[in-house]
Amino acid sequence: MCGIVGYIGNREAFPVLINGLKKLEYRGYDSAGVALLNGSLEVFKQKGKVADLESFAAAKNPAGSIGIGHTRWATHGIPSDENSHPHQSMNGYFTVVHNGIVENYAQLKSDLTAHGYRFVSETDTEVLACLFEFFYTQNSGNSAEAAVQLALSKVVGAYGIAVLCSSEKDKIIAARKGSPLVIGLGTGEYFVASDASPIAEFTSHVVYLNDYDLVVLQRSNFTLKNIENNPVSLTVSSLEDRIGETEKGDFDHFMLKEIFEQPQTIEETFKGRLNPGYSEIVLGGLQNVFPRIVDARRIIIIGCGTSWHAALIAEYLLEEYARIPVEVEYASEFRYRKPVIYKDDVVILISQSGETADTLAALRLAKNEGALVLGICNVVGSSLARETEAGVYTHAGVEIGVASTKAFTAQMTVLTLFALKLAKEKSTISAKEFDVLVKELAEIPEKGRVILQQNHRIQEIAAKYKDAVNALYLGRGCLFPVALEGALKLKEISYIHAEGYAAGEMKHGPIALVDDNLPVVVVAPQDAFYEKIVSNIQEIKARKGNVIAIISEGDSGLGELADDLIEIPGSQPALAPLLAVLPLQLLAYHIAVLRGCNVDQPRNLAKSVTVE
Ligand code: F6R
Repeated sequence: MCGIVGYIGNREAFPVLINGLKKLEYRGYDSAGVALLNGSLEVFKQKGKVADLESFAAAKNPAGSIGIGHTRWATHGIPSDENSHPHQSMNGYFTVVHNGIVENYAQLKSDLTAHGYRFVSETDTEVLACLFEFFYTQNSGNSAEAAVQLALSKVVGAYGIAVLCSSEKDKIIAARKGSPLVIGLGTGEYFVASDASPIAEFTSHVVYLNDYDLVVLQRSNFTLKNIENNPVSLTVSSLEDRIGETEKGDFDHFMLKEIFEQPQTIEETFKGRLNPGYSEIVLGGLQNVFPRIVDARRIIIIGCGTSWHAALIAEYLLEEYARIPVEVEYASEFRYRKPVIYKDDVVILISQSGETADTLAALRLAKNEGALVLGICNVVGSSLARETEAGVYTHAGVEIGVASTKAFTAQMTVLTLFALKLAKEKSTISAKEFDVLVKELAEIPEKGRVILQQNHRIQEIAAKYKDAVNALYLGRGCLFPVALEGALKLKEISYIHAEGYAAGEMKHGPIALVDDNLPVVVVAPQDAFYEKIVSNIQEIKARKGNVIAIISEGDSGLGELADDLIEIPGSQPALAPLLAVLPLQLLAYHIAVLRGCNVDQPRNLAKSVTVE
């Protein structure tokens, strides 16, 4: 949440910052701002998108080769010009961009108020800026970085910050606790950002900051230490060159591009993990810990939102094939319960971003209890990837659309590989069953392409239902979490209230909603539940509900009953989620576009939820 970018070097900073903010806008987009040091300090900031800031500031000829920028997802205070970052301290010494939440900001604010400080915004960030200034001016021996260190030692909560000091002009100070920051190392220039996307076009050498790290960037060098002023060891990592992925190409939206990328991303995810004869699954990142996984007492899978839905699907596959008890948890609940965790539990954290605050807190809790903690994550070098003991990357590439699509199917692909590998190692799956499933997994990309060819047809269905107020999604077995995911996609990008339900639960409440205004999306391929789900459809039709059925290719049985049909190619039931979710993503996308919604940046949401 919130995007931070900073630059120090010999280029003009403004274009670097604006382009960087555009790449970070998926993290939050209710206001934006930049501060530039060019002899004096200039701040440009306002409510609205980065493009609005760009034209507003460009008209004033912004100049300077040192600067920091921010795109905001509001926590403290409504989106407004005053609450936009950067924030300055009362006497103008410090200018700060901040990602995270200062939990004790009210206390700090009242202490500073008692020392004569006055505030112009409602934000916790302005309190931070004033706290830096307080320690800076209180003792003339304090350097800017010493003041920042002292102030941060008083802060409870999370921060990723970039700081300018008007009386120590040739530096940017950056620090992290709980909110990610990465430093880009150029020649005679440095970058700081909340993820690597704004940096990748300038350098492939980066340093990921750890909690409590503090870095001082100057044009010719940088120093890394912690907030207690102790040196910390430096690890330089390389970025993969995937810049092209941050362009929309011929697609109207990133979300549509990412939906259409899925046949390829699913393939990327399993490619290299299946041996040429498809007789073995190789998960290199888990190799050393696999014997512990085989001996595990149970598996707990934890995530939020869409990643939690992937976990629910994995529960079906692991229990069916690997015959191991599985529990699926919302990270935000798990972290605050007193969960019983055994040392021979395996805890799997799933996260696209690898930076979700609740998921990271759950990770740390499970690790402290001695369980083996594994990560399934998309962003290389993210906190989750670095803090788990072992894991598997999903290799879906950069996902820009705030509503997750290709990361979800990549997570499911990894989880399917994991379940089948574990089943094989535990001898709970027959050689024949393994063989059929792995070979069919390799056919999923082609089947996905067939589904995506129905895009136009799905757009026509969307036009029929775009004015709905509510929608219900139903599925059974491992297609129940797909129904949950379909409902989440619709609600987050179209703002239509949508519920996902296990179809068998319909009679226990949701059927009361059914009338001739209610679209009900039923995931109804010809699997073991087919007859039961046909009965559910009949019950909906008897109450005049509108049924959009996702059916197996060639199934003529539902033609008379359902109002609209979307066909998906047949597959093993365990692989059906990878196919059934595609039309649901497209349906949500088209409904949202027809309603005039901003599908890539839905209101109130952010891609990376780094605050709880
Ligand atoms: C929904 C969506 C969110 C995320 C959730 C977890 O489309 O994108 O529900 O799935 O915020 O994010 P990660 O996977 O980054 O931990």
